[in-house]
Amino acid sequence: MDNINHLKKIINPLLEWYERCKRDLPWRHNPTPYRVWISEIMLQQTRVDPVIPYYLRFMDALPDVNALADASTDHLMKLWEGLGYYSRARNLQKAAVIIKEQGHFPADFEGWLALPGIGEYTAGAICSIALGLPTPAVDGNVLRVLSRVLGSRKDIAHPSTKKEFTAALKSIYPKQETSSFTQGLMELGALICLPNGQPKCLDCPLKEFCVAYLDGLTEEIPLKSPKKGRKIEERTVFILKCNDKIALQKRPSKGLLAGLWEFPNILGKMTAEQAKEAFNGFSVTPLAPSNHIFTHIEWQMIGYEIALQEEAEGYHWLPAEDILREKAIPSAYQTYINYLKQNCF
Ligand code: ADE
Ligand code: SF4
Repeated sequence: MDNINHLKKIINPLLEWYERCKRDLPWRHNPTPYRVWISEIMLQQTRVDPVIPYYLRFMDALPDVNALADASTDHLMKLWEGLGYYSRARNLQKAAVIIKEQGHFPADFEGWLALPGIGEYTAGAICSIALGLPTPAVDGNVLRVLSRVLGSRKDIAHPSTKKEFTAALKSIYPKQETSSFTQGLMELGALICLPNGQPKCLDCPLKEFCVAYLDGLTEEIPLKSPKKGRKIEERTVFILKCNDKIALQKRPSKGLLAGLWEFPNILGKMTAEQAKEAFNGFSVTPLAPSNHIFTHIEWQMIGYEIALQEEAEGYHWLPAEDILREKAIPSAYQTYINYLKQNCF
């Protein structure tokens, strides 16, 4: 109860600050359910700046839910190429098909939550931003702001903390300003109440009653819980070349980067000689090593370009030009995509 009264203090200063300082972002114009939904999915796990050009291009190409439902997978993946976490795009389309069949967007939190790819955070964001409902959207940024304002040392990685903060926020949501309140919290977390030792408390509209600031605890709050380690996987990536064509393969339809195009590769590191022999190639060129970090796994890659006399079976052979224009290859392979760009035109 104490917390709730304390939390109520943030409403007016936050709304006033948001109106004055908010960034001009494309999804903040004409915030229809479709536009807000797409932006929230794109913004998951990503910073705002890199998303903007993707968002504009996506809205141009697929301006409404029917266009998204009817898009080809390759077109959709091409629009998503570079954003990562491709299952988000696939779920987006699954949900679009459902919405098209229903003939309308869900009108409440539970309706959105039931769609593929939409969790509590995203459902809360869409409903409060596009539908005017008092539904909090609580992610790591918002948890950081709230735990600092309240001076709470609860572990923000723990689901019970999120539950508690969500319930507290829900009870104070300003009913006329649900969009600005949700986005104000996000915006404060992104621009002012930065993680680690970086918060800009002097510019913060909440500093007069922020416990972490007043008590000098911004270094300690939020409490840091140790991160789980990532599994490391060594891989050898092959750019197989035959005349002016390059081999691609499709990843399995389940799991990491499901169903996307990629360069042939194997688990483990091969020497140049082993690679040449494995494909019966007539020349081999070592490529730059590269690393890619996913959420739960890290790939440590080396690569070889191998020239072949004949197109080996089991791959799709395409001119490099067509690959770069039409096929979405995950950015985990960026080093090898760049190599293709520089060497195959
Ligand atoms: N991150 C998630 N949703 C956002 C939004 N609507 N504006 C800015 N950053 C966000
Ligand atoms: Fe965050 Fe500092 Fe503002 Fe408190 S005063 S909410 S710690 S930026």
